[in-house]
Amino acid sequence: MDSFTATAARMPELRAQIAQHPDRFRVLTGDRPTGRLHLGHYFGTVRERVRLQSLGVETFVILADYQVITDRDVAGNIRENVYEAVADYMAAGLDPRSTTIFTHSAVPALNQLLLPFLSLITEAELHRNPTVKAELAASGRALSGLLLTYPVHQAADILFCKGNLVPVGKDNLPHIEVTRTIARRFNERYGQLFPEPAGLITEAAELPGLDGRKMSKSYGNAIALGMTADETAAVIRRARTDSERTITYDPENRPEVSGLLATAAIVLGRTPTDIADEVGSAGAGALKRLTTEAVNAFLADHRAQRAAITVDDVAAVLREGNERAQSIADATLHEVRAAMGMLY
Ligand code: TRP
Repeated sequence: MDSFTATAARMPELRAQIAQHPDRFRVLTGDRPTGRLHLGHYFGTVRERVRLQSLGVETFVILADYQVITDRDVAGNIRENVYEAVADYMAAGLDPRSTTIFTHSAVPALNQLLLPFLSLITEAELHRNPTVKAELAASGRALSGLLLTYPVHQAADILFCKGNLVPVGKDNLPHIEVTRTIARRFNERYGQLFPEPAGLITEAAELPGLDGRKMSKSYGNAIALGMTADETAAVIRRARTDSERTITYDPENRPEVSGLLATAAIVLGRTPTDIADEVGSAGAGALKRLTTEAVNAFLADHRAQRAAITVDDVAAVLREGNERAQSIADATLHEVRAAMGMLY
């Protein structure tokens, strides 16, 4: 059994424990602010965070701004992406009074954990990380020290607040493994301080983009949560379909039509096959109309909430979140230095 299968097998029991004892868990999770959050993020992670928050699990959400430059040279519109993401979190139901939303770069003590943590892992272990290898290949660039040490700074993100539950997509599971290794080795060497966090894999199957490929802003196949109804209609109108009139769900052979069906299905809470049967010989135009209406109805509430959130609201949320994260990071760093005999 590989480690993904092993982790997946533990999910039902882990979920039961969370529901029973929400107070025993502290969630740390986050996003790289590389662009706007889209429907894939919503169903993949954002909805899960809101669910955990409403169960009463203490939740931290990091906007990992330094991670943006792991696989690209330019930071781009990081600030704007961060602000838009916070607005989306709030509109989706994350409540900044109970959920700490903060930015990686604003918490120096968190980043300082990187130094002792780097001593706990070997270069060979870093080179073995399959997600780092995949991101390196996709980036088409030389391996930077930042990309190589990706799992170590992610360990600092998680352990600074002693997070023990990390909802992530399965591509991030290798980083959770490294985090567990670092926590274990630190505890063995310097005394018990850190939990060994568990990865929580979201139940939702990954939502493909409108053309059936991976949903990504750079493919133009994503519906951003912050789009207007007209912008949504326009991306769906532009989505490619094939020449067969009758609509069927067949992700392998008809990725474009199937991407539209998957999108309509997830927002309607139905199966793609069911929607394919409904549209049938009415063709791609009818499928696009149905998908546009379904997505716009689904996002109407999110958009209304979002419209009521001002730039000042977002700035205040980040200010408070960063302050809270800083005081926790300061306390943890103090404990780390005390454990290592470095208080002067
Ligand atoms: N690497 C995560 C991603 O690509 C984002 C992230 C940064 C994260 N730090 C984290 C996720 C800590 C979970 C825990 O989406």
